[in-house]
Amino acid sequence: MKILVVGSGGREHSLCWAIAKSPRCDELFCAPGNAGIANIAICVDIAADNVDALVTFASDNKINFVVVGPEAPLVDGIVDKLEALNIKAFGPSAAAAALEGSKGFMKDLCSKYSIPSAKYGRFDKPESAKEFILRNQTPIVVKADGLAAGKGVIVCQNKNQAYAAVDHIMTEHAFGGAGDEVIIEEFMEGEEASFFVLVDGKSAVALRSAQDHKAAYDGDEGPNTGGMGAYTPAPVIDDTMAKSIMDEIIKPTINAMANEGRPYKGVLYAGLMITSKGPQLIEYNVRFGDPECQPLMIALKSDILDALVASAEGTLDKIKLKWHDDVTLVVVMATKGYPGGYKNGTEIKGVKEAGDMDGVFVFHSGTKSENGKLFAAGGRVLGVTTKAKNVAAAQKLAYKAVAKIDWPGGFNRTDIGWRAINR
Ligand code: AMP
Ligand code: GLY
Repeated sequence: MKILVVGSGGREHSLCWAIAKSPRCDELFCAPGNAGIANIAICVDIAADNVDALVTFASDNKINFVVVGPEAPLVDGIVDKLEALNIKAFGPSAAAAALEGSKGFMKDLCSKYSIPSAKYGRFDKPESAKEFILRNQTPIVVKADGLAAGKGVIVCQNKNQAYAAVDHIMTEHAFGGAGDEVIIEEFMEGEEASFFVLVDGKSAVALRSAQDHKAAYDGDEGPNTGGMGAYTPAPVIDDTMAKSIMDEIIKPTINAMANEGRPYKGVLYAGLMITSKGPQLIEYNVRFGDPECQPLMIALKSDILDALVASAEGTLDKIKLKWHDDVTLVVVMATKGYPGGYKNGTEIKGVKEAGDMDGVFVFHSGTKSENGKLFAAGGRVLGVTTKAKNVAAAQKLAYKAVAKIDWPGGFNRTDIGWRAINR
């Protein structure tokens, strides 16, 4: 098969790495890719959100299968456009990608089909949003309806903060059209975890659970990022919890989407709050998490390409995935200044030495190579990913590898995995 992976992050590097191992992969392209991906795939200079150019490339180059990494092209209908040309693709249609593209759609679906999730209101006018806040308890959560690059959620400790959040989103248009509507939600208490499943429209195959570290600095301090590290599986999700997540949240969602005429295919990433009442859905994403995908890919023993193709073809009921027993963990290295302003172009050394260590895989995100040297070209830059018998060992190995990477322009958290280790 000729395969095109869309995206340029650590997620896509780990997907390319896993796909390249499949005997069914004859030729691998990635658009736009990065310096690490260039070692295992042919990088094509098309941005991940340029849907029309990607579809043209796939058609002109007789690509057999497209794997879409990020959410934006999915919400913009890349899978619909590829399928219209008879090109198979992994990921949901635009109609199904609304699970991530519109938080209001997701909340209404949960409400209609009794899927456990926070109580909420949905508003297209700031006055009515504020009236709802006045009538409810704090803390309270204010969310822009549409895609806001992970920044559209504001957890508010008091009512004044919540009114200000509504103004920020609806009146100051901080997230553009994504804030034409807001969702206001009850604040849920508990431990957060993620759960990933592959879906083919009707059946689902569970991948593993994971826990991300969204704050920039140690101790979960500092601004929110795309994710500074993760591990899989998450100890808070034991087998009983996994079963109730499948039975109460995932399967009802798949049935609901089919019933609504929007059958869901692709990976479904549930962001969950494990509360005293059981698992509650915080949000859905219609793609793999980044960095969570990196430890997921090195934990998987089975052929990922078979599973992705089965999701696209509706034959997941024939797939049984095998996993390594080990815990896998990733430490993200980012450019100093991220998630705020930062400068590209600082040199990175020692990546090969780190990656040569037993049980260590270094995935690239924002990197560029020039004359055999490696440079930072983004906020999140490397994912130092490890496999070991438990979280503590995986953490120790990851920081041993991080120490081999000589990059004065970068930083990383030094406590990835703390929650699991402290349990
Ligand atoms: P989301 O983008 O919807 O996952 O929200 C980002 C983060 O905000 C989540 O990872 C949670 O930490 C927090 N959050 C969102 N909604 C809620 C809620 N209803 N209760 C508590 N925390 C929430
Ligand atoms: N790591 C969080 C995300 O991919 O949304």
